[in-house]
Amino acid sequence: MQPDQVRNIILVGFMASGKSSVGRALSRRCGWPRVDADEEIVSRAGKPIADIFRDSGEDAFRELERAVVTDICAESGKIIAAGGGSFIDDENRQTMLDGGTVFYLSAHPETIHRRVTKGNPNAPVRPLLGPGNPLERITELLAQRTPAYSQAHHSVETDGLTPDQVAEAILKICGPGLSKKT
Ligand code: S3P
Repeated sequence: MQPDQVRNIILVGFMASGKSSVGRALSRRCGWPRVDADEEIVSRAGKPIADIFRDSGEDAFRELERAVVTDICAESGKIIAAGGGSFIDDENRQTMLDGGTVFYLSAHPETIHRRVTKGNPNAPVRPLLGPGNPLERITELLAQRTPAYSQAHHSVETDGLTPDQVAEAILKICGPGLSKKT
């Protein structure tokens, strides 16, 4: 990758693939500010994501998500953590592919299941997992979404890696195209 090629670093992937924590680790390392699309949606709606789904439904959430993705991808020099479903939408996917270098953080269903259930009491409520067997739902949804996630510019396997290790792998791929913190 040549210098000045990286406009934004955009992290996509399934829920709990580590987009937010890797985004924070990247931001610490390179000094670029971090933007979290879900946080921006919550701030614009004035309520948590679970409440947006409950009160207005998924379509309304996706509409808000498209507006947020368009706005944040119009900026430069940002580490962008996108919501897990945003890269599945054709329009969002194109906006992100045009707006920066997109990294798919992949993880096996069992890893995701562990991260959303055990050992993370502060994990946000994820309406799409719904009631029922979460591992089955994760496996099914991940299989549906993988063809879209595979269109990212790069993929990084995150199973067994810490957020800092994933951030290092991403910075290595970016090479000198990313200005370092001074
Ligand atoms: C979603 C993932 C969530 C959030 C919303 C929908 C999805 O973000 O945007 O609940 O469709 O996968 P995280 O990936 O940050 O959990």
